[in-house]
Amino acid sequence: MRPCMLCSYPSPRQSQRSLIGTHLFQSQTDRIDVPGSSFRIRHKRLASAYFRVSARSGIVPKSSSWPRSTGSFRMRESSIHQTFGRVAFGLDPAGYDAARPMYPDWVFDFLRERCGLVPNTVTFEIGAGTGKATRRLLELGANPLVAVEPDERLAAFLRETIPDEALTVVVAPFEDAVLQKASFDLGLSATAFHWLDEDFALARVAELLRPGGWWVMLWNVFGDSGRPDPFHEATRKLLGAPLSPSAGNGDVPFALDAEARLAALERTGAFDNVEHRTSTWSLALDPDQTVALYATYSNVNIRPDREEVLSKLRRIACHEFQGCVTRNMSTSLYVARRRS
Ligand SMILES: C[S@@+](CC[C@H](N)C(=O)[O-])C[C@H]1O[C@@H](n2cnc3c(N)ncnc32)[C@H](O)[C@@H]1O
Repeated sequence: MRPCMLCSYPSPRQSQRSLIGTHLFQSQTDRIDVPGSSFRIRHKRLASAYFRVSARSGIVPKSSSWPRSTGSFRMRESSIHQTFGRVAFGLDPAGYDAARPMYPDWVFDFLRERCGLVPNTVTFEIGAGTGKATRRLLELGANPLVAVEPDERLAAFLRETIPDEALTVVVAPFEDAVLQKASFDLGLSATAFHWLDEDFALARVAELLRPGGWWVMLWNVFGDSGRPDPFHEATRKLLGAPLSPSAGNGDVPFALDAEARLAALERTGAFDNVEHRTSTWSLALDPDQTVALYATYSNVNIRPDREEVLSKLRRIACHEFQGCVTRNMSTSLYVARRRS
């Protein structure tokens, strides 16, 4: 079987079908041309080609050669496999970009003041998506900025909507991206690092940074353990499984599990000046915005009953919350300096 350039794994067989993907990407009828490859992939078949439902483990990859999660990250029962993240967010890039909230300003102030983000900072970004963090990094001087993005649809959106010569888009999973070692002043990942094998990816990050360079991982988390979250409670059963790796391996979301994240940074032996900061805030949504936001969630997009789930979310927003939904938000930021 020839490899697929989009994800570097065997090409899906057109005849394969399973529960997942039958309805997933159902509105996506276009084909994707993968640069450098003769393969064209129908994305509505991608998930069913690569993933199957296991009663014990939830959504799991079909191929036995698919990389397994190792190191510090334990997969929960009914977790979505990390490799699904490579195709989970590209269904509607413009919709994703409009629906997902921006990162708070304090994050970028901190990058300028603490991590030396100034004009001509040589930067890479892991999982740039539609460019929510990318645009701010470019405005603040990241140049060149190499955005590593495995989903061709998101990569195309980045190129089309950010006509900035400082930006280069590399279409590959970070694990496979070819980047020059010890050459970057700054590396960043925004709401994406939970989709990678943490120990493996941190070791690569450390290789790419020059001595004294900064590593930044940040997340906008939907939830905040310190405040009641009625909409989350009202939809908990509906969205109970499968869970995204962002849910973490216990009671604490991956991004807010500071003990685990700091321990992983420490294990590399490559960083000093490690710091963690958080803030909490609120996101007010009307029913359309609620549906648009949840339509970007991987645990909704992987569901065979995606459209029904979104309709139910709308009904709950309209009838149980009178059209006014508030989600508690946390922003979690980790920075670490590459040892000299
Ligand atoms: C939730 S989105 C976040 C996108 C964007 N950074 C943001 O802040 O909105 C997760 C991103 O990680 C990307 N991703 C998933 N697995 C990846 C991998 N192995 N290497 C690089 N990016 C990956 C996805 O394609 C997607 O763009």
